Amino acid sequence: MKIVFATHNPNKLVEVQRMLPGHIELLSLDDIGHTEEIPETGSTIRENAQIKANHVSKKYQLPCFADDTGLLVDSLDGAPGVYSARYAGEAKNAEANMDKLLGELRGTTNRAASFKTVIALVLNQEKHLFEGVVNGEITHKKMGDGGFGYDPIFMPRGHKATFAQLPMETKNKIGHRGKAVQELVNFLKAKDHASE
Ligand code: IMP
Repeated sequence: MKIVFATHNPNKLVEVQRMLPGHIELLSLDDIGHTEEIPETGSTIRENAQIKANHVSKKYQLPCFADDTGLLVDSLDGAPGVYSARYAGEAKNAEANMDKLLGELRGTTNRAASFKTVIALVLNQEKHLFEGVVNGEITHKKMGDGGFGYDPIFMPRGHKATFAQLPMETKNKIGHRGKAVQELVNFLKAKDHASE
């Protein structure tokens, strides 16, 4: 079975492909020749994942899943949330995004935050959603060189290091995206067994 993962990111594709049984073949947007940007016009993380998956599956008549992630900060009523990538502007600059967030939280004691990933899947005209969440807090300064995005200022609960300081395997295991992907993989494997 071939399924499109609506991403241009080869690392994400390999990461998910590794977790799937060999006969489920993932195709990226590049593999199917989709080059134009899919407008992320939703007002929630879930809506954006659904928009991407629906757009691709309709256009190419193929099963497809898409992911969308946001950082939700409690004391900012869930901001930056769906706007995480462009929090400090359209340049989508990670350093500027972190600087803005640290500025917003200056003097704030409640630093609780969570990362949330939603995966939307369209398979045989049916729509399914999978979620992964990791709770933690925003540190007072950037720490670590690993990861990407807000990793240097996010410390997952139960750890004394940021995502940018923890080994990638740890982040994948306890992190939002890894959990959501695991939910998707469990679902696809169960479907597979049912059709045997
Ligand atoms: P996307 O939906 O995966 O493109 O994520 C949207 C934005 O959320 C990214 O541009 C990053 O700013 C942030 N983000 C997503 N995943 C992570 C992560 O694992 N660590 C840190 N930041 C992330």
